[in-house]
Amino acid sequence: MQDVRGVDASTNNAKSLVTYEKALRALNSYRGDPVAIIDEALADDPDFVMGHVLRAEVHVTLWENSVLPEVESSLARLSDLDNRMNDRERQHTQAIKLWSKGDWNGARGAFDRLLADYPRDLLALQVGHLADFFHGDRDNLRGRVLRALPAWTRDDPGYSFVLGMQAFGLEESGSYAEAEESGRRALAIEPEDCWAHHAIAHVMEMQARQAEGIAFMETRQPHWSQGDNAFRFHNWWHTALFHLDQGRGDEALRIYDREVRRDPEAIQVMMVDAVALLWRLHLQSIDVGNRWDELADKYEKDEEGGFYAFNDMHAMMAFSATGRTNAAAARLRATEGAVKQAGTNGLISQLVGVSLVRAIEAFGRERYAEAVDLLMPVRYRAYVFGGSHAQRDIIHRTLFEAAVRSGQQQLAVALANERTELKPTCPFSWSLRGRAAA
Ligand SMILES: [Fe+2]
Repeated sequence: MQDVRGVDASTNNAKSLVTYEKALRALNSYRGDPVAIIDEALADDPDFVMGHVLRAEVHVTLWENSVLPEVESSLARLSDLDNRMNDRERQHTQAIKLWSKGDWNGARGAFDRLLADYPRDLLALQVGHLADFFHGDRDNLRGRVLRALPAWTRDDPGYSFVLGMQAFGLEESGSYAEAEESGRRALAIEPEDCWAHHAIAHVMEMQARQAEGIAFMETRQPHWSQGDNAFRFHNWWHTALFHLDQGRGDEALRIYDREVRRDPEAIQVMMVDAVALLWRLHLQSIDVGNRWDELADKYEKDEEGGFYAFNDMHAMMAFSATGRTNAAAARLRATEGAVKQAGTNGLISQLVGVSLVRAIEAFGRERYAEAVDLLMPVRYRAYVFGGSHAQRDIIHRTLFEAAVRSGQQQLAVALANERTELKPTCPFSWSLRGRAAA
């Protein structure tokens, strides 16, 4: 049979494909639980190949060590079903297999090839897009979507989500006007699209349109924050950043409590946002009470050290802010150990991860000059360890503060100048100029 976009699937069970669409829509829209939905299809139809593929890939998009057992159990089922798979399903399985072995660049390449053959495979497009995000690969965030777009028309199911991805890829590539236009076109078709709202929030962040960003996110909030919504925390994080950069740390903390950390779960992508907000406040010496403790506790207990350098840096921020030197040393060893391991994270850790984690550790021990020395060479190469420009801004903020605290006034002034030139309308930029001058 074929799915609703005319892509072949090795099933004769129409009901399974209907449920697959529901699960895919949950993933596209960040509403509902795609795993719970696809599990219903798999309970009825245990040999449904695309069901196992979707289940595995939803876990992959969390990009953390804890999901490996689930991914591997799906791979075991897919291996049993190999003789009935079609070409597309075999390519999906290969991508998942590469990811499970830590060859993340290999997995991204497998999705590139798959999408060249099947550009209307919306699952591959979204999972590939998120994989590009986890590598800070702005060229492929844009390129992957642009390669597929000509195969789509406005009336295709899921087209608006493709536009939302295009918007984010364009934004990360610096094409802000085009990004905003794509995002708004996506919202005209699907007003509740979390990712398209998110892309527009990124445009406003990069263009330092803080007041407009708050107005946009708060006016549109009924669209992007309602329902059983797995992305709300991150769009609220962006809203909190707008407030913070207008000098409203109090409002940022209110959003932190009410939304960003509303569900204090141990999911890495959620913890990263919490840390990233608290660390920005920490750099400005704004008291955040005991909010660090539950994060540091969770990082101490998890088994994520050395899995993904981006997460390691954020864990280190929690340990540095709470003075947990033993946990910090253990995390640093894990990141250093990753360098010796095969796989993409070893490469990422070698290129930038170890320097960044060491820098945050040094900052926590008040060795600010050392933090400066570690951050300066890697700050513009840090994209290889993933995240967005907005997320990696935390590195530049940390460098500035380390320069100030180590008495390197000329460097601090220079960094503040860079920031006011890039974002002249951002009150935070000017606050750095004042701090550096003083
Ligand atoms: Fe974001």
